Amino acid sequence: MNVKIEAVSSSTSVDWHRLRCALWPDHGVDEHRQEVAAFIESRAKEPAAVFLARSYEGDFVGLIELSIRAYAAGCDQANPAYVEGVYVAPTDRRQGIARQLLKAAEDWARENGCSEIASDSLPDNSPSAKLHTASGFRDAGLIQCWIKPLK
Ligand SMILES: CC(C)(COP(=O)(O)OP(=O)(O)OC[C@H]1O[C@@H](n2cnc3c(N)ncnc32)[C@H](O)[C@@H]1OP(=O)(O)O)[C@@H](O)C(=O)NCCC(=O)NCCS
Repeated sequence: MNVKIEAVSSSTSVDWHRLRCALWPDHGVDEHRQEVAAFIESRAKEPAAVFLARSYEGDFVGLIELSIRAYAAGCDQANPAYVEGVYVAPTDRRQGIARQLLKAAEDWARENGCSEIASDSLPDNSPSAKLHTASGFRDAGLIQCWIKPLK
């Protein structure tokens, strides 16, 4: 599918919010709204960049959120670009949209001085694993995350 990849702006923040709620439904709608507002008003530490995929009919069908992390597992260089989230609406999948979003992410990373781009996905997310493999990412190995609340 032919889409235009564009940086999010105040005029497209409602569409970003809708796509973000679809990607991370466990996060509250209001929390998403606050985070979107913070980014648009340049108050957010993260994400560093957000791109949306707009169809030629004008519908927003995908997003990618990016940061620059101090470190990412398996990276050789410090400060790699990091894919915090990538999402394509269910009815528009398997048409190359996420691939185009990742391409825009790589261009953004290069422009911002990064020599690597990293990402993650849950072990049971086969579409995400296949997307990353098809887009030239290598598997850096599984890590388990451990948390202990400190009282
Ligand atoms: C993962 C996701 C972003 C892929 O988006 P997409 O637009 O369908 O991906 P693309 O069409 O660009 O796929 C590019 C390539 O990745 C691979 N791929 C992507 N989805 C696949 C799937 N479901 N099954 C097999 N291969 C897949 C294929 O090699 C594909 O190329 P091909 O169609 O020419 O064979 C989408 O499924 C999604 O939004 N999932 C829910 C959110 C999510 O899990 N995000 C990742 C973690 S944040």
